[in-house]
Amino acid sequence: MDSTNSEALRRLSELSGGTVIAAREQTAGRGQRGNRWFSAPGMNLTFSIVLKGLELDAAGSFRLNYLSSLAVAKFLSGQGVEAKIKWPNDIYVGKRKICGMLIENRLGTRGELEASVIGIGININQKEFPQLSGATSLSLCTAKEYELEDALGQFLYTFEGLLDKLDSPALFDAYSALLFQRGTPERYHDLLTGREYCGVIEGVEPDGRLHVREEGGGDHYYRFKEIGYIL
Ligand code: BTN
Repeated sequence: MDSTNSEALRRLSELSGGTVIAAREQTAGRGQRGNRWFSAPGMNLTFSIVLKGLELDAAGSFRLNYLSSLAVAKFLSGQGVEAKIKWPNDIYVGKRKICGMLIENRLGTRGELEASVIGIGININQKEFPQLSGATSLSLCTAKEYELEDALGQFLYTFEGLLDKLDSPALFDAYSALLFQRGTPERYHDLLTGREYCGVIEGVEPDGRLHVREEGGGDHYYRFKEIGYIL
């Protein structure tokens, strides 16, 4: 398959909500910002979940980031790995990325969320990442090997449990509590101005914007693609 997200989007009208498309291999896996997503065949989880009929508008669609990121963090914690959420939805263990997500939404004429394709790539058994620097996998974290089908089943079980709580403020609180680099001074790249500065992630606003307080400076509120982390 080229990409589970592309496949889900092509077949969106015929697929019912709750459908999961998983691939052993993606020949054109897609990442954020038009990047490729590289994943060794048969080693990792690459899948897309189709959701339909959620009562969310475009603004509320950020909740899908909370849901999916938390589901991955919870799944990993169940395997004994403590992960953090690098806003908006990369999952990190230490300073290494273990999971990436590509959420693609379809809006209706009134701006309501008609359908959402949540594409998730979790590195499971892969141990070398020639195309990537700074990646890790579940297996590198625990020195164990995993059955991919079992891992997917466990993830989906966690995801479903959280889906019932999509409207709950607890989802936002749990997401905020797991933010990568929250509360510590780190370097950031403001992509709007091109400036680099030292700042502290204070949290996430209810509308999903990231709040960073610049050391000796003011507050910044970022939307997606407006900030880079200098790791
Ligand atoms: C990123 O971190 O850049 C996002 C990566 C998203 C990868 C997943 S793998 C399953 C799904 N299908 C794709 O083509 N991409 C997502």
